Amino acid sequence: MTRLLITGSSGLLGLNLALAAMDEYTVIGVDRLSLGGVPFELLRADLLDPEAADRVLDAARPDWLIHCAALANVDACEREPDLAQRLNVELPRQLAAASARRGVRMVHISTDAVFDGTKDGIYTESDTPNPLGVYAQTKLDGESAVLAVNPDVAVARVNFFGWSLSGQRSLAEFFVNNLGAGKPVNGFDDVYFCPMFVGDLAEMLLEMLAKGLSGLYHVVGSESLTKFEFGRAIAQTFGFDAGLITPISVDESGLTAKRSHNLRLSVHKLSTDLGRVVPAFSPGLAKFYTQYQQGYPQKLRSYQQS
Ligand SMILES: NC(=O)c1ccc[n+]([C@@H]2O[C@H](COP(=O)([O-])OP(=O)(O)OC[C@H]3O[C@@H](n4cnc5c(N)ncnc54)[C@H](OP(=O)(O)O)[C@@H]3O)[C@@H](O)[C@H]2O)c1
Repeated sequence: MTRLLITGSSGLLGLNLALAAMDEYTVIGVDRLSLGGVPFELLRADLLDPEAADRVLDAARPDWLIHCAALANVDACEREPDLAQRLNVELPRQLAAASARRGVRMVHISTDAVFDGTKDGIYTESDTPNPLGVYAQTKLDGESAVLAVNPDVAVARVNFFGWSLSGQRSLAEFFVNNLGAGKPVNGFDDVYFCPMFVGDLAEMLLEMLAKGLSGLYHVVGSESLTKFEFGRAIAQTFGFDAGLITPISVDESGLTAKRSHNLRLSVHKLSTDLGRVVPAFSPGLAKFYTQYQQGYPQKLRSYQQS
């Protein structure tokens, strides 16, 4: 069986990916201290330790690596730019170099947020990024660092939604938690994005590895909508009151880091190179709801280390 190493296996992407992949692959997750009782193998490591990249790869002996660990909280990156630099630039560089030395096939996870959102249209991989804050800048620098030391890596710019370990990590959970409790929330009606259900993203990333893709790819949903529309769609699917969501501009939100208004990304390259249709938001939302009905959020929470 192909051995798949996943960093950030307690994170929103890493945990869902590990659970989705474990039937077909031998999954080894890297975790500091967040997880307990998961049905896949765990390696305990702080990836900021010197030599961690080599140690983890030597211990896991993977065929493939999907690097999900990051400082992914946009406002935390503004507060701690040095940590963001270490986690989002230096660590991926070290893992990409260590993977090249061992012939390990790697996918590095980046973000749609590398763009400033001023384009009138859809961003392709050949458009020039212009990061608006520390998170986006360090993620962009991470892409360059990885590809400079290992051009065989596939860099995936993603945007996704799903259930998380804490139950509070994702935008979708924000809407479910608040609307489910009858609380009013704001939804940005001037931010367009292309969210992909995390289960669909897991499938895409594994297909990219199976096909041996390398270089830069946009791996997002094939449908664009505003964050307000995203919230409304969740309300409608879950049977909550969509009237609880007030449309506002992101510029009035008071968030620390600046946000782009247009994060519509083309998936044409991905679709062509994988030879398949890239999943859209609406069927992904239906799968997200099915997981809810089946108690998947509670299952994830049971993996929290007490
Ligand atoms: N969430 C989104 O919508 C979104 C959108 C675009 C791009 N992305 C990108 O997608 C990737 C995954 O994001 P996510 O939302 O799944 O992130 P997340 O939920 O914040 O998870 C981050 C993971 O990194 C781990 N980590 C952080 N520092 C570590 C360290 N020193 N040693 C070992 N592990 C460490 C965390 O482990 P602990 O549990 O120990 O802290 C956690 O498992 C990131 O590259 C992010 O930039 C995310």
